Amino acid sequence: MKPLAILLVVLLCDVSWTQYEDSYDDSHWWLSYIRSMQYSDVGAPYSYGGAPSYDYDPGPPAPSVSDCPQECECPPTFPTALYCDGRNLKYLPYVPSRVKYAYFQNNQITAVPDGAFDNATGLVWLALHGNQLLSDKVGRKVFSKLRGLERLYMQNNNLTRIPSGLPRSLRELYLSSNQISKMPANALEGLENLTALDLHRNQINEVGSALRGLKSLVHLDISNNQLRKLPDTLPGSLEQMYLEYNYVSSVPSEYFKAYPKLQYVRISHNRLTNEGFPETTFNTTSLVELDLSYNQLHRIPPVNTNLQHLYLQGNQIEEFSVKSFCTFVDITNFSRLQVLRLDGNEIQRNAIPPDTPLCLRNTDIIHV
Ligand SMILES: *[C@@H]1O[C@H](CO)[C@@H](O)[C@H](O)[C@H]1NC(C)=O
Ligand SMILES: *[C@@H]1O[C@H](CO)[C@@H](O)[C@H](O)[C@H]1NC(C)=O
Ligand SMILES: *[C@@H]1O[C@H](CO)[C@@H](O)[C@H](O)[C@H]1NC(C)=O
Ligand SMILES: *[C@@H]1O[C@H](CO)[C@@H](O)[C@H](O)[C@H]1NC(C)=O
Ligand SMILES: *[C@@H]1O[C@H](CO)[C@@H](O)[C@H](O)[C@H]1NC(C)=O
Repeated sequence: MKPLAILLVVLLCDVSWTQYEDSYDDSHWWLSYIRSMQYSDVGAPYSYGGAPSYDYDPGPPAPSVSDCPQECECPPTFPTALYCDGRNLKYLPYVPSRVKYAYFQNNQITAVPDGAFDNATGLVWLALHGNQLLSDKVGRKVFSKLRGLERLYMQNNNLTRIPSGLPRSLRELYLSSNQISKMPANALEGLENLTALDLHRNQINEVGSALRGLKSLVHLDISNNQLRKLPDTLPGSLEQMYLEYNYVSSVPSEYFKAYPKLQYVRISHNRLTNEGFPETTFNTTSLVELDLSYNQLHRIPPVNTNLQHLYLQGNQIEEFSVKSFCTFVDITNFSRLQVLRLDGNEIQRNAIPPDTPLCLRNTDIIHV
């Protein structure tokens, strides 16, 4: 049982660390996401401080804080947490006022009525993912009093709309795998602290200017939707934009030039053609990773020498043009590209020009 004990300690440290981590951090976010997925797989509750050890003597069950809803768990060593996940719940239990971290994921809850959190206005994290929430049964004001709410997990539900009255304190909003089709211009109004917005796997066909006021947004995922064009405006703070699996066929001229912080752009599995965007579109100094794989490109679009990862597999590119990477080559002018994928195109292997290595001198992997 030693390894288990060690594992629990590791999880415990990890969990408490993530609980109090304020600033956005991509890897970290994924870790907590993956962790929550792991827990839901085995149907075990979240690990928390003072998890009883069953090594030798099970002892009496861990006492619960007295105002704990009977269907939930309230570890005395972590009085701000409420664990109600994975219990086949159909209704949202009462949330005591001391609770800051509430976990209701992986149940069969359909409604979050107005007033559900009236006594728990100190909520910081609220996990409602993996339920069957219906937009008509989510109160229009149920979140608006939660003035300190920072993370709201509502992915994997049956929502058809972005919930209304989202508090301005929100930093991360997860709405993936729902049936949301519209993004009204005011749906995310005032969320100035939002850094991560995940809307993947929905049915959104247009973003319009709904992202305009998100002054802190860093990570945006609208992959697996039905977008025919890129969002009209992006927040200037944006660093990562993931739009894979949509129907985007064009990019407006100078689009990326307006977003100097954008580093990671993924538009794979769309309908882009070279005719759909001006030649210089992707030649912007900020881009570090560009994924245009599985589109309908015939030529390699010119990219900046700062780009490090370029994915173009699964297009109809016929020619390997060094000029797309370097307009000029000498001791200081060369491409920083590390990974270049061109497999699944129509380029002949022997058609790679001899001056390629001079330009792509940092490139470790070239798939042709
Ligand atoms: C909310 O808190 C008040 C005051 O602490 C208490 O009287 C009331 O019963 C609580 N509401 C619920 C639904 O328990
Ligand atoms: C939610 O969607 C799932 C899958 O589409 C469906 O099986 C379930 O009945 C829906 N739940 C409600 C409450 O409509
Ligand atoms: C946004 O974040 C800042 C800095 O962390 C904080 O001071 C401010 O209160 C937050 N805004 C809202 C509306 O919660
Ligand atoms: C990219 O743009 C810069 C100017 O910003 C230009 O000097 C360079 O030649 C362009 N690169 C390619 C490959 O067209
Ligand atoms: C090549 O590098 C030199 C020195 O850094 C610079 O002055 C020049 O503008 C570069 N030429 C091009 C075409 O980028």
